[in-house]
Amino acid sequence: MPQYQIGLSPKLSGEVGVSTAKNAVLPILAAALLTQEEVLLHQMPKLTDVDNMLSILRSCGAEVKQEGRDAVIHARWIASPDENGLERAMRASVLILGPLVARAGECSLSMPGGCAIGQRPIDLHLKGMQRLGAKVETQGGMVHVTGELRGANIYLDFPSVGATENLVMAASLARGVTRIENAAKEPEIADLCGFLTAMGARIAGAGTANIIVEGVERLHGAEYTPIPDRIEAGTLACAAALTEGSVLLEGARTDHMRALLFKLTESGVICQEDARGLRLRGKARHPMEARTLSYPGFPTDMQAPFMVVATQTHGLSVFLETIFENRFMHVVELKRLGARIRVEGQLALIEGGRPLNGAHVTATDLRAAAALMLAGLVSQGQTLVSDPAGHLMRGYERLEEKLARLGADAVKLPQAARTN
Ligand code: EPZ
Repeated sequence: MPQYQIGLSPKLSGEVGVSTAKNAVLPILAAALLTQEEVLLHQMPKLTDVDNMLSILRSCGAEVKQEGRDAVIHARWIASPDENGLERAMRASVLILGPLVARAGECSLSMPGGCAIGQRPIDLHLKGMQRLGAKVETQGGMVHVTGELRGANIYLDFPSVGATENLVMAASLARGVTRIENAAKEPEIADLCGFLTAMGARIAGAGTANIIVEGVERLHGAEYTPIPDRIEAGTLACAAALTEGSVLLEGARTDHMRALLFKLTESGVICQEDARGLRLRGKARHPMEARTLSYPGFPTDMQAPFMVVATQTHGLSVFLETIFENRFMHVVELKRLGARIRVEGQLALIEGGRPLNGAHVTATDLRAAAALMLAGLVSQGQTLVSDPAGHLMRGYERLEEKLARLGADAVKLPQAARTN
């Protein structure tokens, strides 16, 4: 079981690079199934979610080669993945649905695994596929989607990121024009559309609530480098804000981080865009209000890391989680460190300004794991973060090493030195 030991941190300083975005890479990898030609992707982050997706592509029949941070995917022919645990292991496996039906006319998937933050239904994906002419049958935990796709007008009841991505991919090879209204506007969707366009797709309105896709006969191979990870950058920005650091986040796209940077600035941190990325100086001092919303609102993936910042500001902060039904599991663990947080339904009240004390805490999901690492930076003594499900490595490329490079006392314990 991965375990991380974090000591009370000095002011972080220096510069660290931001990895390519997990939530851009995963749909782009799925999109590689849309062409029978070779696709070359650069700067692949070393994450278990990426490894899992590459394994799922292989189980769909694609040839996958990796050289350093390059990935070459060649899906000469494809079929539904053979039944194995992988699809259940990762929510993002649902993203092969659109490509498989668009290219092979059918897809059978085990209903994807959620994670602890919510039941994660896929009703909007399936309803959209039906609008495109597909037949959907669910039986025994499996979903079978079949049919020739034709363009349609689709309205998403909720701007679901995954549903938008699946439907754009499916529509890119459908016969006719598809309009997706109330689409999600996250930067990762615009990036997926950039990759699809490089493959010859015809898409307008990428990154807006109204996306129009004119289906084409076939898509060709492409070479692409996905965008940097705004959530990893936001997590590192919170580490700087907690420790009154002076840090440069190399490659960060500040235009993807407006909501978070506004909140950090409001709280007293100096955030400066720099030709090389994002420079942060100073400490978060004032309590804040954060309501998680679809992009460009405050990102739900930043809720847990940002809550740690709130525990160190003087006063009462109020967080409202509107995207997932169960995304406060990090609160119990933060309270073990001495944080004073009260949860009422989707509302969390954080009474900040109290010192935290190191303890043994357990990661419950990906962003909670990162939040507990950050909390260790401002806890007296040592904090041991146990991560039995390996959540952290799903979405952060050696976060402990990046924090250590900035001066933090953060290490991943060798597996043998397990501390129960
Ligand atoms: C993506 O998940 C991200 N994952 C999540 O990041 C992120 O938190 C989320 O978007 C919101 O920004 C990837 O991109 C791989 P949604 P996704 O569909 O696509 C409900 C992380 O930490 N919903 O926008 O699953 C759903 O239950 C992860 O990196 C339906 O009801 O998010 C949730 O409450 C966590 N029916 C809300 O919408 C559906 O068919 C948002 O889901 C689909 C979604």
